[in-house]
Amino acid sequence: MIDFKEQIAGLISANTENLTKEEARDMLEIPASGEMGDYAFPCFRLAKAARKAPPLIAAEIAESVRSAALFERVNPVGAYVNVFLAKEVFLKSVLSEIAEKRDDYGRGDIGRGKKVIVEFSSPNIAKPFHIGHIRSTVIGNAINNIYAFLGYDTVKINHIGDYGTQFGKMIVAYRKWGNREDVERDPIKTLLSYYTRFHAEAENDASLEDEARLAFVKLEKGEAGETALWRWFRDMSMKEFERVYGLLGIEFDSYAGESFYSDKMERVVNMLNEKGLLEESEGAQIVNLEKYGMAPALITKKDGSTLYITRDIAAAVYRKERYDFYKNIYVVASQQNLHFQQWFKIIELLGFDWAKDCVHIPFGLVSLDEGAVSTRAGRVVFLEDVLNRAIERTREIIVEKNVNTDNIDATARQVGIGAVIFQELSSNRIKDYTFSWEKVLNFDGETGPYAQYSHARASSVLRKGGASAEKALNAPEKIDVSSLKGESACELARLIYRFPEIIFDAAEKYEPSVVTRHIVDVAQAFNKFYRDERVLTEDAAEKEAKLALVFAAKQVIKTGLRLLGVEAPERM
Ligand code: ARG
Repeated sequence: MIDFKEQIAGLISANTENLTKEEARDMLEIPASGEMGDYAFPCFRLAKAARKAPPLIAAEIAESVRSAALFERVNPVGAYVNVFLAKEVFLKSVLSEIAEKRDDYGRGDIGRGKKVIVEFSSPNIAKPFHIGHIRSTVIGNAINNIYAFLGYDTVKINHIGDYGTQFGKMIVAYRKWGNREDVERDPIKTLLSYYTRFHAEAENDASLEDEARLAFVKLEKGEAGETALWRWFRDMSMKEFERVYGLLGIEFDSYAGESFYSDKMERVVNMLNEKGLLEESEGAQIVNLEKYGMAPALITKKDGSTLYITRDIAAAVYRKERYDFYKNIYVVASQQNLHFQQWFKIIELLGFDWAKDCVHIPFGLVSLDEGAVSTRAGRVVFLEDVLNRAIERTREIIVEKNVNTDNIDATARQVGIGAVIFQELSSNRIKDYTFSWEKVLNFDGETGPYAQYSHARASSVLRKGGASAEKALNAPEKIDVSSLKGESACELARLIYRFPEIIFDAAEKYEPSVVTRHIVDVAQAFNKFYRDERVLTEDAAEKEAKLALVFAAKQVIKTGLRLLGVEAPERM
């Protein structure tokens, strides 16, 4: 595909003193509306060196590049040079590229040979996989897909929370009040009820906490009774998690969770010691981070047991040795910002220069229409219930709206799950947001169902177009694009052309919502084009060209959705 930015930058820099092509490229902007051209070049920055007013420079540049075959028009407007690409050249370039690349349109190779770890989801065993965890799961999965699409060799890690003092509590609670059959029937909810009871009773009986501490120390030492119980809790919980991942269509390369590091922490504690980083504080060992404006990090407790942060340090060291990562990404809620700042600093203090390659990708809180999500208060909403409810509701809508489908179960699942994922990825990840059924399943809003519906509509047009579409796609150089010069066709083509850049931008910002928004833009532009123009006309050349554009729109929506982890049904 022609890199238009590169071409324009080349022409402008060749005709402007003291301006390299790279500088010109960086300065080029994409105007908010097509009326101001495909690209705009601002001249403010050139004024000082040239000792001329920006509008004068703009006029001179416009004059000097105007005759290039690449351009239809070049207009100086104020301090800007507005560039309108020759439509035929542009349309042909875009359509050929997609016809040729299809599912690979937008794929990149900047990541070749670079290993990127994406750690995400990481729920805690014997605790609910709640709506709060969906954010890490869905954002992390999308970031992974985007990086993989750009050629990075990604490793998806689920750092399961399967270790820590809470398991001491769980063991004690189970031994006191537990019942095997109840747990087997409904593991997480039952274990959670014991855990809640533990907290309630521990308020009046401090000895429970001591018992729990002891049980955890035994677990850390690998004593048989405690280990067997813990392993059983873990296996039961994992089965539930796997059901949720199955619904979401998400897989991991590794489930090395916190317990995986239980035999790797001594080494870390020794390293910290050798570097003189550990201080004793009331029997516990800490790293003092006062100099860096942070609270101290607690590495081992008085009884010698280790902590969440100790395991994170051990995990990072292990991952560097095992994978030699280029980047080590953690998709974890913003409530844990301090935790990550603390241990990234500790890695740096240990003298590891790869501390700079560890990235925390935070995200905001989810709340529900009904109120906030909290394990302690018992107002928990289980993710699995949310997903199943989304599927159920979608099924009702499908029946009610008489949606075209040959497999109602499959479509209800694809659309219901897709709707939840899409909404999760709709706004900037850092924003807090409220989960609302109204918004999630709206088929007309900027939603998953709307994007999927647009995709299915494009698919249906292509089916009706039959052989004409194939003919155009197999010989794109022969497409006569003259029928695509209308504004809605051009606007759609512009958005399609921008797709590879969008993916790149999303990766750089670790921001899947950049892709989500672009999908909505493309879907809207496609629907506008479809309203404005008759695609299946009698004129063969016109029909082929229009179908090639419909195919391009379908392809971008499909690839975009796939990167987000959302399926794109052919019919609905
Ligand atoms: N299990 C933790 C939680 O649910 C998240 C783990 C995040 N990852 C990490 N490496 N600390 O809050």
